Amino acid sequence: MKDRRLLACAELCVGKRAADVGTDHAYLPIYLVENGICESALACDINEGPLASALDNIKKAGLSDKIETYLSNGLDSVPSVGITDVIIAGMGGELIADIISRAEWIKSRRVNLVLQPMTKWDHLRKYLYDGGYTIINEIPCAEGKFVYSVLQAQYTGDAPDFPCDLAYQYGGRVDGTTKEGAMYLLRQASRLENAGKGLLRDPQQADKAKEFLDAAGALREKAIDGGEMIEQ
Ligand SMILES: C[S@@+](CC[C@H](N)C(=O)[O-])C[C@H]1O[C@@H](n2cnc3c(N)ncnc32)[C@H](O)[C@@H]1O
Repeated sequence: MKDRRLLACAELCVGKRAADVGTDHAYLPIYLVENGICESALACDINEGPLASALDNIKKAGLSDKIETYLSNGLDSVPSVGITDVIIAGMGGELIADIISRAEWIKSRRVNLVLQPMTKWDHLRKYLYDGGYTIINEIPCAEGKFVYSVLQAQYTGDAPDFPCDLAYQYGGRVDGTTKEGAMYLLRQASRLENAGKGLLRDPQQADKAKEFLDAAGALREKAIDGGEMIEQ
């Protein structure tokens, strides 16, 4: 598996039995089991086409006894027994939050969440913050002209001792001292700036515009490496 994004997901898995939600070709569960990161895995998808491809790849890898497939909307039809890691990657942040919210058993310190939003990362980080989930780590990774962040989170029930402001919603816990971290923060800063400039057109939104522009400035300051701007 060469996909930097999926490799970052694998790096954040810690347990024995992983459920990959929206598995598509099952590349990630195959990698996790082949490399001894997990003993067994569940490859889950809402659509029959991707699941058929997953099944085929699992058979070809000779891992049918270690990786089960489930046709399921999120985790709705997936048995939770023994699951230590839940990975939800390559979807929008709102859908990821919705899938988490429907699986009550995820609210446990025993479950490690690995989440990679393609969009609406602000919604996802706020959902986690408000819901008592702690973001433990984030791995930023650049692929071609895209830069993503993979989040590792866990339910703790704790109220964080920092505000869930726009800088956090867009930049999360990404470390700006690394090249990819700086790239991610600069990209997010640019998004905040564009939104802030748009708001400036309406004099009644001046305060909100300032919030966006200040958050952009905060992320630029955190991008210590200097990075390299990615347009996407
Ligand atoms: C863009 S692919 C991402 C594949 C892989 N996780 C990755 O990150 O490369 C999204 C996959 O999620 C599946 N999917 C979309 N909504 C879903 C849901 N509510 N529950 C489970 N799977 C879903 C799609 O069928 C598709 O296979």
